[in-house]
Amino acid sequence: MIRSRIAGVGHYVPSRVVTNDDLSKLMETSDEWIQERTGIKERRYAEKHKETTTTMGASAAKIAIDRAGIQKEDIDFIIFATLSPDYYFPGCGVLVQRALGITGTEVGCLDIRQQCTGFVYAISIADQFIRTGTYKNILVIGSEMHSMGLDYSDQGRNVTVIFGDGAGAAVLQPTTKPGQGILTTRLHADGTHAEELAFISPGSHGGYYGNVEEYGFPEVENGEIFVYQGLIDKKGYYPNMNGPLVFKTAVVKFPEVIQEAMDDIGVETKDIDMLIPHQANLRISQFVQKKLCLPDEKVWNNIQKYGNTTAASIPIALCEAWEAGKINEGDLVCLAAFGSGFTWGSALIRW
Ligand code: COA
Repeated sequence: MIRSRIAGVGHYVPSRVVTNDDLSKLMETSDEWIQERTGIKERRYAEKHKETTTTMGASAAKIAIDRAGIQKEDIDFIIFATLSPDYYFPGCGVLVQRALGITGTEVGCLDIRQQCTGFVYAISIADQFIRTGTYKNILVIGSEMHSMGLDYSDQGRNVTVIFGDGAGAAVLQPTTKPGQGILTTRLHADGTHAEELAFISPGSHGGYYGNVEEYGFPEVENGEIFVYQGLIDKKGYYPNMNGPLVFKTAVVKFPEVIQEAMDDIGVETKDIDMLIPHQANLRISQFVQKKLCLPDEKVWNNIQKYGNTTAASIPIALCEAWEAGKINEGDLVCLAAFGSGFTWGSALIRW
């Protein structure tokens, strides 16, 4: 039986450290408030005009490819998950293919969204291609550059203090070793609350929350500039979040989807060697850990250093845990995520 194994992982974070005190110079917030509510002490911001979502993804990918023991030309498919792409289109998949210099092989590139759940969705897709024998070396990347699009005024403080930049990558390959590899993935979504954690403009809705009646259609000024008055009034061009609703839903969905994956393959919480939760908020991870009765050494948290890096958070954490020697052959690793959409998912991997 063919399964997919993670043959190499890599991560990259920008060198610029932004502390909570740095943010409190820009907006009404404090180190105490941020740490108490989220556990975050600092995050990284990319260097504008030099680093992008793609360049960070490429840096992480090079490490993952090297650790997988292959050449970049061996990659036969690329999946790129991000909510902060370099361009509206084309997506980062083709850009990273070019940045890595593997255009000659003309391999397919797939861009996916799914925000904080992006990496779990991405490896699930890769897993299907590998199990069917379609591809043999799939590069999966999660990368984000949030710092370019956050609201640094008081109005955006609940969102801005949480997010950071970074990238993680993995190379997936087939394995026939009994019991090894991705054992199951579970993916879910519920669009009921799509706008509760969203970056909605500009978009085809043409106005803030699509309320064309209130704001009218965009107008052309001086023959070229579109003015979305509603968008400007309500700052629809920044991410917005209903924090309490996200928190309340996440603490239910995380344990639920982990349980679902465990039931799928017939294991119990005590069998998990390492849980890598999406780094949404330390308080959410602590809640999930308590609910599953997992000891500290079986849960990897690094949100304190990087904030929430959405699609990059799981591969960065996975890579750090592996580098620290906390993930070894035969270990049962659980990935779990929840985020905008709402989307959520889990994966159980025998390393
Ligand atoms: N600094 C200081 N005060 C802030 C602030 C900040 N950065 N952000 C919000 N506040 C204020 C609010 O304005 C509000 O003030 P008010 O009571 O005078 O109106 C107060 O703090 C409480 O706001 P609220 O949004 O209810 O706070 P909270 O206790 O729910 O904490 C979050 C806010 C965002 C930390 C919390 O809701 C959360 O972590 N939610 C989940 C977010 C998440 O994980 N997102 C990623 C999902 S993948």
